[in-house]
Amino acid sequence: MILIDGKKIAAEIKEEIKNKISALVKEGKNTPGLVTILVGDDPGSQIYINNKGKACIEAGMRSVTERLSADTSEHDLLDLISYYNNNKDYHGILVQIPLPKHIDEAKVIEAISPEKDVDGFHPISIGNLVLGKDTFVSCTAAGIQELLKRYNIETSGKHVVVIGRSNIVGKPIANLLMQKNKYANAIVTVCHSAAKDLSQFTRTADILIAAIGKPGFVKEDMVKEGAVVIDVGINRIKDDNHPNGSRVVGDVDFPNVSKKASFITPVPGGVGLMTIAMLLKNTYKAYLKYGG
Ligand code: GUN
Repeated sequence: MILIDGKKIAAEIKEEIKNKISALVKEGKNTPGLVTILVGDDPGSQIYINNKGKACIEAGMRSVTERLSADTSEHDLLDLISYYNNNKDYHGILVQIPLPKHIDEAKVIEAISPEKDVDGFHPISIGNLVLGKDTFVSCTAAGIQELLKRYNIETSGKHVVVIGRSNIVGKPIANLLMQKNKYANAIVTVCHSAAKDLSQFTRTADILIAAIGKPGFVKEDMVKEGAVVIDVGINRIKDDNHPNGSRVVGDVDFPNVSKKASFITPVPGGVGLMTIAMLLKNTYKAYLKYGG
């Protein structure tokens, strides 16, 4: 079994971006900039937003975080997005999801200029992805493909089974890996909680991608011997043996599934860190394509 080291690959990508940015600085050029917007004080979202901002600064990008109170109106949030849509120093805009219930998430995502949609959540980005056109791809989905690529894992003609159909992960990764492209060209099945017997699908996977948000959901008997297992879950569970009373686990029962897998991503240290690395990559891409 080979452990896929997301930490190492994410660090490599960050270093690649950092070198490109320092070359820009040497040429006296403007640097890429990202604005992250957090509404409310959800502890998980705060950690993600802090990590995203920190990664930008470490790579030499400009980064600002707008922290808005949970009772911010939809109108004020849309105004702020409009301000950054028109600000030439910021090439990427990221609004952390989920948003408070009184704000229409789809409306907010659609308000972001597609040229600055570094999350790849805008309907135009999603549409381009489905059509196989160059676009911003959801950072988690792009991160998974990058891991497969850097570990030389063959995807062409392989059966990829995705568990989960979210707009953020399930749908984009399925579309990305079914494209007639290098590091894709897979036969993709998307399954979800309505399946009467999920394991009937998962057992046929050469590459199994778990993105359901249920701790330890994928058990050994759901996985084919020698499968590649990609765990997208980030679930915080109670653990009194841990110093802060909890720890983070994935959607896969790692101790048992890892005995059967040929490659597997750990949690933490797998896909999660790639999401941030690909955000840097998307911001750099936005800068090259539309800014500079
Ligand atoms: N919430 C969970 N994952 C993500 C992500 O990749 N981007 C944003 N904006 N919100 C998220």
